[in-house]
Amino acid sequence: MTDQKATNITWHAHNVTTQDLERLHGHKGVTIWFTGLSASGKSTIANAVAAALHGRGMSTFVLDGDNIRHGLNKDLGFSPEDRVQNIRRIGEVAKLFTSAAVINCTAFISPYVADRKIARDLQPETFIEVYCKCEVDVCESRDPKGLYKKAKAGQIKEFTGVSAPYEAPERPEVLLDTGRMSVEACASAVIETLKSRGFVS
Ligand code: ADX
Repeated sequence: MTDQKATNITWHAHNVTTQDLERLHGHKGVTIWFTGLSASGKSTIANAVAAALHGRGMSTFVLDGDNIRHGLNKDLGFSPEDRVQNIRRIGEVAKLFTSAAVINCTAFISPYVADRKIARDLQPETFIEVYCKCEVDVCESRDPKGLYKKAKAGQIKEFTGVSAPYEAPERPEVLLDTGRMSVEACASAVIETLKSRGFVS
């Protein structure tokens, strides 16, 4: 946990409340937290879910690890400490999106159980964890960015699944066998869970 550093700060209530925004959008916000190895399908499925819901007139947004690391988190690398900070910040950002009544999909490896729990505990009622389960061999055979090859050659240090750990979720709300299932089937499974939990009608 990061300690509160600033003092003399006051929480302000907003004139436009979360309830106002839920009425405007016609639905509540929710965080759909995708976790899994690089190339396991997180971003692809997150985008498919967001597109399908957007097509139904819902407010969606995708927070993607590679993209966020170009801006908000450009000061972070891949050491364990930096990954903790990466996920801590995104957990907070996701909570903000939820409070803006946006269906937000996050696609980060988020390799540590403890960090995902911190993100969940920020908004336990609106957090759906989706585990993109894919054998490292399959991720490696896909290797869309050529990173596994570089990691195996020792050119990238601390690469998840090769030289850095990945702690699988024990009880995710959704488990997708992304090595075998199609993108469409994975996206449908996520949307069905959102329906069964009342986030999507
Ligand atoms: S996380 O572990 O901190 O959650 P994040 O999802 O933000 O990672 O970023 C992972 C992406 O960064 C990968 O999909 C890959 O494209 C790239 N990357 C570069 N170096 C590494 C590394 N050492 N380990 C994992 N991913 C890396």
